[in-house]
Amino acid sequence: MDLEEKVILITGASSGIGKAVALALSHKHNRIVIVARRKELLSDVANDIQKNGSEALAIDGDALDEEQAAKAVRETVSRFGRIDIALLNIGAGPSLNTATACPGDIKQNMRVNYDSMVNFFCPLVRQMKTQASGGIVANTNSLAGFLGMPSQGQYSAAKAACRIFLDTARIELKPFNIRVLTLCPGFVVTERNKHPGLPKSLTMSMDEAAQHILKALKAETKEYLFPSSLKMAVVVGRALPHFLQDKILSRMAD
Ligand SMILES: NC(=O)c1ccc[n+]([C@@H]2O[C@H](COP(=O)([O-])OP(=O)(O)OC[C@H]3O[C@@H](n4cnc5c(N)ncnc54)[C@H](OP(=O)(O)O)[C@@H]3O)[C@@H](O)[C@H]2O)c1
Repeated sequence: MDLEEKVILITGASSGIGKAVALALSHKHNRIVIVARRKELLSDVANDIQKNGSEALAIDGDALDEEQAAKAVRETVSRFGRIDIALLNIGAGPSLNTATACPGDIKQNMRVNYDSMVNFFCPLVRQMKTQASGGIVANTNSLAGFLGMPSQGQYSAAKAACRIFLDTARIELKPFNIRVLTLCPGFVVTERNKHPGLPKSLTMSMDEAAQHILKALKAETKEYLFPSSLKMAVVVGRALPHFLQDKILSRMAD
């Protein structure tokens, strides 16, 4: 889909990758709806979107609340009449060790990554099914969702759950012309997530990540892993026997 003059809803757009994608799209005369909890940050992003020539609608709300998510979708449609693209981008991966984690922290992370996606997914699908042109539902997933990463078990599991759920949705929503994309970044340096222990060559900036996401939205790539160097590492890593996978991944925990 070309990315001009579209109605685009982005969750988790007050900071990080979501904000960078919103700003990258704002140069193309789009109508951009941004959702997150921090009202002041959202309002700054909305101002920047407008300065760049697009319309903005900022909706503050908690994506863990099913009704607030449905309301955000309703507000978008009532303001702009349709939704062409939704980027469901909310997520976080705090360090947790399975040897010491408590059930509450593990389940909370599933809520932040998976429930926040599902709460938007269902009302979006209801809306897009009514649109002759269908639409695109994309999820900011992670390369961490392909392997059980040390200190990220709950995050890897939540992202894998999103990916598999959306694999089913891609098949079931095809008759409605709703295209489902899973976008999987490697390490992105954001305001909250600096990846201090990693060499620069393994990280990318928010703007670089945003450009990758725009490319995938435009090409409607069903599953897009980036950057290519880390994509290769994940593909090869998954093909290795478990004893070798464990050996390599446990080095990352040291
Ligand atoms: N950074 C990386 O290295 C990296 C790598 C791979 C994948 N990812 C994925 O990329 C996505 C964005 O991550 P990021 O690094 O850009 O993180 P971030 O800067 O922390 O952004 C997360 C966004 O989600 C919003 N959010 C969190 N909980 C919310 C809730 N309950 N309701 C509404 N909004 C909520 C936050 O806004 P408020 O706090 O204002 O609500 C913020 O706008 C996530 O899905 C993450 O898993 C990140």
